[in-house]
Amino acid sequence: MIGVAARGEGPVRVGLLGCGTVGSAVVRLLDQGGATIERTSGHRLEVARILVRDTERPRPGVDPSLLTTDPSEVVDDPSISIVIEVMGGLDPTLGYLRSALGRGASVVTANKQLLARYGPELLAAAQQSGAELRFEASACAAIPVIKVLRESLLAADITAVTGIVNGTTNYILTEMSRAGLPYDVALSQAQELGYAEADPTEDVGGADAAAKMAILSSIAFHTRVHVDDVPFEGIDGLQAEDIALAGRLGFVVKLLGVARLAEGAVSVRVAPALVPAGHRLAAVGGPDNAVLLESRTTREIMLVGPGAGGDETASAVLADVISILGTHRGSFLHNALADSGRPIAAPGDVESAFYVRMSVADRPGVLARVASVFAEEGLSIRSVVQTGSGDEASLVLVLHAGAERRMAAALAAVGALDEVRGEPVMLRVLGSGEGG
Ligand SMILES: NC(=O)c1ccc[n+]([C@@H]2O[C@H](COP(=O)([O-])OP(=O)(O)OC[C@H]3O[C@@H](n4cnc5c(N)ncnc54)[C@H](OP(=O)(O)O)[C@@H]3O)[C@@H](O)[C@H]2O)c1
Repeated sequence: MIGVAARGEGPVRVGLLGCGTVGSAVVRLLDQGGATIERTSGHRLEVARILVRDTERPRPGVDPSLLTTDPSEVVDDPSISIVIEVMGGLDPTLGYLRSALGRGASVVTANKQLLARYGPELLAAAQQSGAELRFEASACAAIPVIKVLRESLLAADITAVTGIVNGTTNYILTEMSRAGLPYDVALSQAQELGYAEADPTEDVGGADAAAKMAILSSIAFHTRVHVDDVPFEGIDGLQAEDIALAGRLGFVVKLLGVARLAEGAVSVRVAPALVPAGHRLAAVGGPDNAVLLESRTTREIMLVGPGAGGDETASAVLADVISILGTHRGSFLHNALADSGRPIAAPGDVESAFYVRMSVADRPGVLARVASVFAEEGLSIRSVVQTGSGDEASLVLVLHAGAERRMAAALAAVGALDEVRGEPVMLRVLGSGEGG
């Protein structure tokens, strides 16, 4: 491996192959997060050169002087120690990565089709030159599933990986099932919202999911699974009628990648499948991805999140770059000890929404008096329910977000009202305030 500059010894020079949706997000996130990366990893990253097809195209936030159409300026420059491949395709991409790894540069790639075909060859090339090859973004974008399989669950003896690994098809199926849309209408909607490409064949036909499952099962089962080993069907032949009938029978239809280890053999398949409505994968809707990892020791672990998007994918790419930087002795400690100097918020200043229940005397004007006490503290009521009557009356309020200290003051004042009996009960409401 080309020596990544030791901490504090000058910048680590990074070259990009491609500057489209993902590449431009990598440049932007590096710009925004460079200081944090330097503080936690001890390394300053510098984008040295970026390969594109068209250097004249405007790319907001990208310094045009870094652009080149000459691949050797990225692939063969000995001062570049990490090459980020976000151009996609098999040819000429494979040749570029062979060259970069061959000279000892580490490579981070988001290219699932390339890895599902040439992963073993590229990994061997990396091993031979002592470089690193990382590919977190190639499956499920921002969800750190490869790192979890490779590191956190390495000793867990994984027996099954079941995934919703294509966001386009999950969005289409969610809409077909939720709104009863026919396939074509749901696909057009996905295209309008940017969840599906103009040519959606690879997604809806299942080839994209097959490549991702080949990568995930290779890592999970320490086996070389080629994309051609993965039989796949897509959702393009699905009929709205079957989705509706499955719903009536208590199932949700999902495009599932299912990889299993049974009797020592690995099986991987991608196909639409009926998932029981109460199963945790059934709840994963819209363009989200999810991967359920099963093992005898850890039972079931599910990871859910965005499976595509420029920033989301770039975040996984940068995580790989940081892992490469951080493979020095003591790097975890350095990372964990880093202090940004951020203050800790005073608990009373933290905002939340609230639920309050109190026993009250059932008299006219009680609600108005209670409401005015909360209003004095700047807390407004979102909803009210009154239960019971006479001595058994209770007033239940849900309040919009406000500071904890204001709620504490309001509760003390409300508790002191003649009409309020005993201590009011207060609970926080998730998701409606800053603190939740
Ligand atoms: N977008 C996502 O949400 C997502 C999610 C996960 C993984 N990925 C993977 O990430 C990779 C990049 O995706 P993307 O969406 O960023 O693609 P994109 O927007 O099409 O960008 C591709 C970039 O590569 C450059 N490029 C393509 N072929 C080239 C060639 N032969 N020579 C020089 N430059 C070339 C293009 O140059 P020009 O700009 O000059 O055309 C462009 O900058 C793909 O492997 C994709 O599968 C993407």
